[in-house]
Amino acid sequence: MAVKTLLIINGPNLSMLGMREPEIYGKETLDDLQNYCRAEAKKLGYLAETFQSNSEGEIVTRLNRAMRGNYSGIIINPAAFTHYSYAIYDALLMLSVPKVEVHLSNIYNREQFRSHSVTAGACDRQIYGRGFAGYSDAMEYIDHLLKEREKGK
Ligand code: DQA
Repeated sequence: MAVKTLLIINGPNLSMLGMREPEIYGKETLDDLQNYCRAEAKKLGYLAETFQSNSEGEIVTRLNRAMRGNYSGIIINPAAFTHYSYAIYDALLMLSVPKVEVHLSNIYNREQFRSHSVTAGACDRQIYGRGFAGYSDAMEYIDHLLKEREKGK
């Protein structure tokens, strides 16, 4: 059986984790987050493919490539694009695999503009305010959805 892979996308400025507002995002780096994701995915029997970009177009292209069906699920932290990218919304919408939007911080108790997500509407769930743990929660939810879908066949 083909190995099940999760695509984990992190958007702009998440490359600066560890240095960026550590009181909000913590002291750990993007590398730490990606290693965490790989380890958590492994526990559930998945491979995690990680991708970070500061460019909306690169994220759209990566999602478009996911249309080839290489992934069992997608976890995306679109970062600031969350709040205004209809291009990422559209790219997510056309993918039928389970998709979860994750935010490290609680976007609902910060500046007003962060309370609105354009991209969450194209995802099966949104998780926020759990730090790194939000990504493993997302993996568990994707695993649950895949098992439900398998039962429904
Ligand atoms: C974020 C929240 C966004 O509002 C912000 O623009 C980010 C990170 C989070 O993970 O909490 O860059 O997505």
